[in-house]
Amino acid sequence: MSIIKSLTEDLKEIVKNAGYEVEELLLQPSSRPDLGQYQINDAMNLAKKYGKNPRTIAEDIVKELECDRRFTNLNIAGPGFINITLTDEFLIDSLNKLTNNLDENIDKLKYKKVIIDYGGANVAKALHVGHLRSANIGEALKRLARLLGYEVLGDAHLGDYGRPLGLVIKEIKEMYPDLPYFDEFYTGSYEELDLPITNEDLEKIYPLASQKGKEDEEYLEDARKITLKFQNHERGYYELWKKIVDISKEDIKKVYDELNVSFEIWNGESDEMEYFEDLIDIYQSKGLLTESEGAKVIEVAKEDDNSPMPPLLIIKTNGSKSYDSTDLAAIIERKKNYNPDEMWYVVDGRQELHFEQVFRAARRAKLVEDNVVLEHIGFGTMNGSDGKPFKTRDGGVMSLKSLIDLVNEETLKRINSETVAEEEKAEIAKTVAIAALKYADFLPYRGTDYIFEVEKFAEIEGKTGPYLLYSTIRMKSLLTKATNLELKQDKIFEFKTETEKEIALTILRLPVILNRSLDTKSLNDIAEYLYKITSLYNKFYSENKILTEENINLQTSWLTLTKIVYDINITLLNVLGIKVPKKM
Ligand code: ARG
Repeated sequence: MSIIKSLTEDLKEIVKNAGYEVEELLLQPSSRPDLGQYQINDAMNLAKKYGKNPRTIAEDIVKELECDRRFTNLNIAGPGFINITLTDEFLIDSLNKLTNNLDENIDKLKYKKVIIDYGGANVAKALHVGHLRSANIGEALKRLARLLGYEVLGDAHLGDYGRPLGLVIKEIKEMYPDLPYFDEFYTGSYEELDLPITNEDLEKIYPLASQKGKEDEEYLEDARKITLKFQNHERGYYELWKKIVDISKEDIKKVYDELNVSFEIWNGESDEMEYFEDLIDIYQSKGLLTESEGAKVIEVAKEDDNSPMPPLLIIKTNGSKSYDSTDLAAIIERKKNYNPDEMWYVVDGRQELHFEQVFRAARRAKLVEDNVVLEHIGFGTMNGSDGKPFKTRDGGVMSLKSLIDLVNEETLKRINSETVAEEEKAEIAKTVAIAALKYADFLPYRGTDYIFEVEKFAEIEGKTGPYLLYSTIRMKSLLTKATNLELKQDKIFEFKTETEKEIALTILRLPVILNRSLDTKSLNDIAEYLYKITSLYNKFYSENKILTEENINLQTSWLTLTKIVYDINITLLNVLGIKVPKKM
């Protein structure tokens, strides 16, 4: 159990000894640091419960606290706020439990199995900026939940099923009508067949085909028919579809790799649609599948809805299977294959209605037990300075690769030529660029939009990824130098300055931040915390000359503090999926 948690538990006991029962007690960082490090505000609530003056209650509690040697400088402010300060001795003891064992400072949660659906890249289409946040947030939530004791599986949930692929195949057929895939009399094997198409070609083919489809009704109709063909596993078309998926997947993996994002499950919507028949059976047998204007739908409206709740579309009027149905089929598949306690969907907030419909439909047929959590974790968009989703200069959709390149250009300018050799520059700049992009993405609460400001994100000073990397590398370099000089870094004996105490208190807050982040499913608290502990540390670093300090106990204390902060930074950057280069 973390120090802060066991302290909170003990405080409840102390309050009880003073004659009062509290269920939850909050040890909050003080809003008046001049009066104490923490404050307890429970006397006000207890006053109502016990019909007493809150100040009297606060006095009773303080009397008990005074007997405890962990606390000092106890005082009461205003109507009954109790201010508490921890003794240096207790703070030092607490930190000494954390050297080489950060786990002591993490409150694990009860085991749960979670599947996170994130990523959502589309086959044969370049990943665009919209896919960035899903990948970042999904990956970080996965790592955070694991750190806190959950078993978590990430599913890439590739968009490999719908009409875009029909369009791509249609265009390939226009380009190469003689390919055996289109020959219904071809009896040979498809294995060795060469497809004269690269991923780059695919990324050009889709926009072209999509444009043609808009202008030419017949072309679009063909693409629709082709979509049905590969969906129905019609030889030739299905085999071509598989080849395209393979080519594209390889490239998608590369982009996710660059972002330090990986998945345990590489399913696509097509894999989920293997459960489409089951889906129809379930809903039909329960009488939940209804006809509406030639389409098949599931009603999901409730009487007390105060905004329109359209039915979930399963089969469209033209007979094709809908996007809605892919997510419903996925629930059946995941329940069957993994039986998780929770399913999370890290998908753009603009799909909120879609997920509300899907979840309601799932509940109606009890696809999962009532206690299985289905949660849409929506996020806001990354906008340009005009406040609209970030676009290319000519107003097109910005690919994720171009976005990374933009940031890369900026970080490359800032790599230190004195410490980094020319041939290492490019790779390091890339790592820093990803850090810049990711950190900026985590800083705002996930639900809010933010503006892409490349220069600001890449800056080495300020609340940025590069600042965190630079500072963390400097901590590491100090520790390495100390190791080479055979200096110890395993015990804190004393604090010299207020800054050190502030760092110590910030270290103790770590578990609160981690749990809150998982509660809100947003990484902004962790991003802020990283900045706070890092900038405090840097202040301390500039205030002291650690390596030349003559008081050995003080020097050991400082190095040990450095080590704990470094461990925290590495752990949290890893949760955020941010890699730390050796130098920059
Ligand atoms: N492939 C979709 C897109 O690019 C996102 C998929 C979202 N995930 C889901 N389970 N529906 O817009």
